Amino acid sequence: MNVLLIGSGGREHALALAISKSPLLKQLYTAPGNPGTAALGKNVALDAADHRAVIDFCLEHTIGLVVIGPEAPLVAGLTDDLEEAGFSVFGPSKAAAQLEGSKGFTKDLCREFNIPTGAYRRFSEAAPAIDYARQQTPPIVIKADGLAAGKGVIIAETFEDAERAIQGMFDGMFGEAGAEVVIEEFLHGEEASFFALCDGERALAFASAQDHKARDDGDTGPNTGGMGAYSPAPVMTQEMSDRVMREIVVPALKGMKARGMPYKGVLFAGLMIGDRGPQLIEFNARFGDPETQVMLPRLDQDLLPLLLECAEGRLPETPIKLKAQEALTVVYAAEGYPDSPVHGTEIKGLNTLVNDPHVIVYHAGTKQDGERLLANGGRVLTITGLGDTIMAAKDAAYGAVARVDWPGGFCRRDIGWRAITKYGARV
Ligand code: AMP
Ligand code: GLY
Repeated sequence: MNVLLIGSGGREHALALAISKSPLLKQLYTAPGNPGTAALGKNVALDAADHRAVIDFCLEHTIGLVVIGPEAPLVAGLTDDLEEAGFSVFGPSKAAAQLEGSKGFTKDLCREFNIPTGAYRRFSEAAPAIDYARQQTPPIVIKADGLAAGKGVIIAETFEDAERAIQGMFDGMFGEAGAEVVIEEFLHGEEASFFALCDGERALAFASAQDHKARDDGDTGPNTGGMGAYSPAPVMTQEMSDRVMREIVVPALKGMKARGMPYKGVLFAGLMIGDRGPQLIEFNARFGDPETQVMLPRLDQDLLPLLLECAEGRLPETPIKLKAQEALTVVYAAEGYPDSPVHGTEIKGLNTLVNDPHVIVYHAGTKQDGERLLANGGRVLTITGLGDTIMAAKDAAYGAVARVDWPGGFCRRDIGWRAITKYGARV
């Protein structure tokens, strides 16, 4: 089968690597891809926003499955247009992608279907939002309703900060995404990411991970797309995973079906695990980045049939097989990330890592310039280590980082600290 993968990040390199191992695969195309995906198939200069061009490409290259990595094409309805043209797509429809595209939509779904989450109110004007915020106890969580590239959440420690955030959102600091604002209760506990594959009717637990959103060590500095992750998340025991499936994923799937917008693809639940059990912070309608770079190396079965079964509404009941192995990934970013990453610096030394069975180097914002590999984005490489414990995986990842020669890059030095300090010898 020919597969078209949409996207260009580390997540897509990880998806491409897993798909490329499938005996079912004939040819993998990635649009636009990166130097990592180029080594596994053909990169194509297709604009995912041009749905007609994507359909024409699929027709010309007899594509059996389209896999959509990032959220923007999902929210823009690429799945709908491809399905209407007769193609199988891994990724939800435009309506179903509202689970990520509108925080208010998701909160309303939670309320209607009894999914545990923080109390909230939706607002389309600043004055009532400010009044409501003044009645809450800080910290106050203020969110732009729409997609804001992971930046649309402000946790205000004072009423003044809350007022400034609300006013800023309605004044357009996140563009259209802030035309509506959600104010919600601050949740306490430990954060974890949980992923389930869904086929519209049924869901299968996939894996868990923990991300590190802050740029600097000790979870300080500005928020980023994610500076590192490990999988599994120790807090997501089998019992907790079962509970999340029962209390959050399955009701959401039922709710979406009842609303006439069945959810197909991967459902990414951002969770807070606290005294009240698991609570939903947010849903995403896609795989996480960098979570994918630690979950897929643990998968102990062929990914491609699973993606196809989701797309075609025929997921099996068989639980997904994961290796008894831990994975930890370190994001290597360009100096200046996240505000103004410096492009064009040269990266050397990756060839020393290719034969290490405990290391996988995923490309994200890289560019091949003849023989030279250059930084061409914010998050440039994701370096995954594998081992029997999180400590061992961490040592493998940081050992590999030390062998990369890239003066223009930086990374956090403490990925995994929470798991290692909190769960110690058990991980
Ligand atoms: P999100 O973009 O919704 O994932 O939010 C970004 C980060 O803000 C999350 O990873 C949490 O750390 C934090 N956050 C969002 N909502 C809440 C909440 N209701 N309570 C506590 N922390 C939150
Ligand atoms: N790493 C968080 C995300 O993919 O949204």
